[in-house]
Amino acid sequence: MPTDAADIVQALRDAGLIGAGEPLLEPLTGGVSCDVWKLDTAAGPIVVKRPLAQLRVAAEWTAPVERGQSEVRWLRRAREVEPSIVPKVVAELSVGHAFAMEFLPDCPVWKDELVAGRVDVDFAARVGSGIVAVHKATANNSTDRDDFPNDEMFRALRVDPFLIHVAERDPELAPALRALAEDLMSRKIALVHGDVSPKNILVSGDNPVFIDAECAVYGDPAFDLAFCVTHLLLKSVWLDNEKLRHAAAAMVNAYRAKIDWEAPDELLQRAGRLTGALLLARVEGKSPASYLTAADHKKIVRAQARALILDPSPIDELVTEWKRTFA
Ligand SMILES: Nc1ncnc2c1ncn2[C@@H]1O[C@H](COP(=O)(O)OP(=O)(O)OP(=O)(O)O)[C@@H](O)[C@H]1O
Ligand SMILES: [Mg+2]
Repeated sequence: MPTDAADIVQALRDAGLIGAGEPLLEPLTGGVSCDVWKLDTAAGPIVVKRPLAQLRVAAEWTAPVERGQSEVRWLRRAREVEPSIVPKVVAELSVGHAFAMEFLPDCPVWKDELVAGRVDVDFAARVGSGIVAVHKATANNSTDRDDFPNDEMFRALRVDPFLIHVAERDPELAPALRALAEDLMSRKIALVHGDVSPKNILVSGDNPVFIDAECAVYGDPAFDLAFCVTHLLLKSVWLDNEKLRHAAAAMVNAYRAKIDWEAPDELLQRAGRLTGALLLARVEGKSPASYLTAADHKKIVRAQARALILDPSPIDELVTEWKRTFA
């Protein structure tokens, strides 16, 4: 047992989840921003997650541990919308804003499936449907708005590292990126997950399960769509796989079909602007995509992203026109 986990074990006992014996805490992979363990209980396997104050990235990057509570709230709210798209929260623990949720067995991380070349376009569409279901259910809802007053956290974890960090280093793009950051922070439309990346989506048979909602905020739903599409487009370059672009298109289409709280074209326009900026952030930002190391790949992404920031396209057009090579 890791020594720093002793307080977690005590909290699990206090919550009645485990007995007096020493549990086997098995660290799960991932874990840039949290300690994540799996353990068996009499009622079945659970995952325990505790946010870290200093993220495990190269750059100095701290974040308030209260985000653990935002994640629990998001998981509970999304479960009200559609139980199949999230793991059930089992308990909030008394230490470190940690919590326990059910462990989902035999559910690979979607990123690993994509990297292995298994790109299921229909699954991508279901990811779009899952994201939009939460947005639609929470759009223009003052209770949800009051329950997720996490602007400061969202700024620290998303807006500053992804948009402002690049703006500070690129005078040509700075006005557009700063305006985008301001626009993003000003919109209070629906409950945003904030980290819809393929590594935070589990594949449960045919259905996506969303985890890792530490950045949840009541804000602009266009962000979630842009964030996930960005990941697919980056991977289309990295893996030189055109199917990833088709997956992104299917996700956008499925999402668009359910927008009923505002004019769909306006949301797609905002998502397109954000996608351009997020693409560049993954090459130049504080949290670069770990896999995009080849100079050629960076060049392909950088050139398209810069052009998109200066002359944005709606996200559906952006995906149609995205080039994974310069050939
Ligand atoms: N409920 C669950 N059932 C099964 N596996 C899970 C569950 N929750 C998390 N995992 C596994 O643990 C990994 C890390 O979880 P999570 O993404 O929540 O942590 P994190 O520290 O925020 O990660 P990162 O910062 O790297 O995205 C996931 O990629 C997944 O493999
Ligand atoms: Mg994660």
